[in-house]
Amino acid sequence: MMSNIIDGKQVSLEIRDSLTEEVKKLQKQDIQPGLAVVIVGSDPASQTYVRAKAKACNNIGIYSEVYELPEEITEQQLLEKIDELNSDMRIHGILVQLPLPKDINEQAVIERISADKDVDGFHILNAGKLLVGQDSYLPCTPAGCIELIKRTGETLEGKHVVVIGRSNIVGKPVALLSLYENATVTICHSRTQNLAEIVKQGDIVIAAVGRPKMITADMVKDGAIVIDVGINRVDGKLVGDVDFEQVKDKASFITPVPGGVGPMTITMLLQNTIVACKKSV
Ligand code: GUN
Repeated sequence: MMSNIIDGKQVSLEIRDSLTEEVKKLQKQDIQPGLAVVIVGSDPASQTYVRAKAKACNNIGIYSEVYELPEEITEQQLLEKIDELNSDMRIHGILVQLPLPKDINEQAVIERISADKDVDGFHILNAGKLLVGQDSYLPCTPAGCIELIKRTGETLEGKHVVVIGRSNIVGKPVALLSLYENATVTICHSRTQNLAEIVKQGDIVIAAVGRPKMITADMVKDGAIVIDVGINRVDGKLVGDVDFEQVKDKASFITPVPGGVGPMTITMLLQNTIVACKKSV
């Protein structure tokens, strides 16, 4: 029997191979895409993500810079760093790892990044363009989810996509991207009544809440595609928002954690950085 487990690592490798070729072509014209990653404070999980992003850049020939700034940095100092990166010709993409310390206004920081270098797709201009259906940088995790669904060979058109979670980073944008694929979309959240009943109607379920194993087998329709965006640390182990062991026997396709959506987030970031570079020349 063919596995119904979506191998996000393998899909990522395939996409990264073609991105490597694109970088090589640019290098022949003496152009190298560059990404700056900024992290504030020393949260171990964030540090891991940031290092993985820089390593992925290096592996495919993208120039990268990582700025590890102390927890005590002021908002003004952080804004000045962004100004510097905005005018740095080697840097085509800027990513500020979230969350930021609570005394820093996250939205103000995101708005300071030049919309042209906003490879996270979080800037208000890119978020607004996504809302009205104009070409923009797509947020990486949502774009990765849609890519994984498409690569199962299934289409989203006409399907009922149930998104659990309404964050600006995942829930809202992945709902919009599903809508642009002509899906019928329901967004569930912490105040949703009859959550299990609604999730059970989903041909495609996208879980992005940050609550370990909250989506159980009884909530999932037979044959549904299940995309798990959750990354929760439980007793030192990573687990998703979906009870993988139970749900995998019901789903037609399912992403594991780790090794599902996670690698795709980074791959989409690399892709956005190359796009940003091409647009700048
Ligand atoms: N924190 C969690 N996910 C993300 C992401 O995709 N981008 C940034 N900048 N921070 C994050």
